[in-house]
Amino acid sequence: MSTHLLRTENLSRDFGGVHAVQNVSMAFGKGRIHAIIGPNGAGKTTLINLLSGEIIPSQGRIFFSDIDVTESTPHQIAHLGIGRSYQQIHIIGDMTCTENCRLGALARHSGGMRFVRSASAYGDINTVARQALEQVGLGDRAHVLATNLSHGEQRQLEIGMVLASDPSVVLLDEPLAGMGAGDSRRMVDLLKKIARSRTIILVEHDMDAVFELADVLTVMVDGQVLKTGSPDDVRADLTVQQAYLGEMK
Ligand SMILES: Nc1ncnc2c1ncn2[C@@H]1O[C@H](COP(=O)(O)OP(=O)(O)O)[C@@H](O)[C@H]1O
Ligand SMILES: [Mg+2]
Repeated sequence: MSTHLLRTENLSRDFGGVHAVQNVSMAFGKGRIHAIIGPNGAGKTTLINLLSGEIIPSQGRIFFSDIDVTESTPHQIAHLGIGRSYQQIHIIGDMTCTENCRLGALARHSGGMRFVRSASAYGDINTVARQALEQVGLGDRAHVLATNLSHGEQRQLEIGMVLASDPSVVLLDEPLAGMGAGDSRRMVDLLKKIARSRTIILVEHDMDAVFELADVLTVMVDGQVLKTGSPDDVRADLTVQQAYLGEMK
């Protein structure tokens, strides 16, 4: 049994002539926050889409707990316990916060309609939705329509939807995008809390947040892994500084 909960082997994905992800072998340790950074177009979102099953690789394999999930559908992957958030917020504006989180909870359950029909199961799903809202700090917003939340709260709600599916691995694509300092602080604290019991793969541009949160860092450039290491190792790496970090300062 591998010590890594999730790993890729020589993973590639082309779009026409564009090599979005090229020969990427990465391993994600259980209980860690593994951040992936790199310039726009580096292939970060494509990698997340491959891990969540939304697109299939051109080459290579993906293993979750040593099960080959390369050919698995997004639904099967969610059912195994891998949840994700999106670079563009994916919530339903004219549903309440609780209703959005109920959808998140249903993502985990195959045969979802049967699950909904049972009255006790419906009670369970409401409890799960409420708990997820509490976890992300939206307990007092349960009946508010998602469209009426602030941007920061909408990002929190999206994380709540993910948590409602009780994933062991959480894939987050730029959860701090578009946030001011106060909202960012709240989100960083929330991610620390989530990381106590889950594995997090975090794509993020906010370097202060990345260096505060990450146990392991991977730098991607042009679809390839440039470097993986501890945050200190990555910060000290001259090639990384030239390729990416330098331009951030
Ligand atoms: N669905 C797609 N069709 C065509 N090209 C794509 C598609 N998705 C991503 N790409 C291309 O793949 C490369 C990597 O994109 P992406 O994974 O979104 O990078 P990042 O998230 O690091 O900014 C880019 O050149 C992008 O234009
Ligand atoms: Mg992206």
